[in-house]
Amino acid sequence: MQGLLHGKVCVITGAGSGVGRAACLLFAEHGAKVVAADIDTAAVEETVAAVAADGGEALAVQCDVTDAASVDALVAQAVATFDRLDVMYNNAGVTTQPGQTFMDASDADLEKLTAVNVGGVIHGCKAAIRQFEAQGGGGAIVITASVAGLIGFGGVVYGSSKGAVTSLTRGLALEVAGRGIRVNSVCPAAMPTNFGGGVLKASEAAQQHTAAYHPLGRVVEPRECAAAALFLASDLAANITGVNLPVDGGLSAGKPLGR
Ligand SMILES: NC(=O)c1ccc[n+]([C@@H]2O[C@H](COP(=O)([O-])OP(=O)(O)OC[C@H]3O[C@@H](n4cnc5c(N)ncnc54)[C@H](O)[C@@H]3O)[C@@H](O)[C@H]2O)c1
Repeated sequence: MQGLLHGKVCVITGAGSGVGRAACLLFAEHGAKVVAADIDTAAVEETVAAVAADGGEALAVQCDVTDAASVDALVAQAVATFDRLDVMYNNAGVTTQPGQTFMDASDADLEKLTAVNVGGVIHGCKAAIRQFEAQGGGGAIVITASVAGLIGFGGVVYGSSKGAVTSLTRGLALEVAGRGIRVNSVCPAAMPTNFGGGVLKASEAAQQHTAAYHPLGRVVEPRECAAAALFLASDLAANITGVNLPVDGGLSAGKPLGR
């Protein structure tokens, strides 16, 4: 059986860890030619080695998504190596201190969250759309937003950066639909990755506490988020655009009765 992304050239940002690394492995398992990008060169090289050990094809590129020129160079390198671009997965993201209140967030926090979580996505979308248009249209953009972009979920300033990209997903999908370009996001709940200093990953107690308020009773695994991105990137989702897909164990659906 051919994979869902057989022969497709997929750029994935934030590929050195967590969801990005899981997506590199999963997309490559599904036949993609993966261009794995991260600000952390050693981490992204580790990801590419893991993909290769799995029998997949991947290229490591150092990229800072806050810098438009760096993102343009990333897409140029993908095209120089693999001749085209089919999927741009804007996944890189950061947060601030766990438990930080709205009033605690500094201007520096706001600037960083905006530069990476919003600016990085905008740079990725622009670079991809330019390339998709040069190829004659078509192509898929996927963004890792967050359940915090859909509902109130603590980390208010972080949530506002993710709300910006859920809005961007809808608006941009409409703007580029006529050129056959699709734009969707995945909106995961808490995942045990290196995110936010890796607090959830490091603590079994924190995972249990978090799992307890998710209707399905567990945290989201990075590979489950990557699987939703795989679907949205693939031709199975050929008629889906402008969607912010929760991957949250039912968290954004409401409060379960009886709890
Ligand atoms: N982990 C969670 O609980 C959670 C929940 C909801 C949404 N998300 C989102 O999922 C996405 C992936 O996060 P993760 O959990 O895998 O975190 P992670 O910290 O494990 O991985 C993020 C990766 O992004 C890279 N990165 C950071 N800044 C960058 C930049 N300027 N340019 C390029 N790369 C950069 C990091 O080096 C790291 O490898 C993020 O967008 C995050 O906001 C995470």
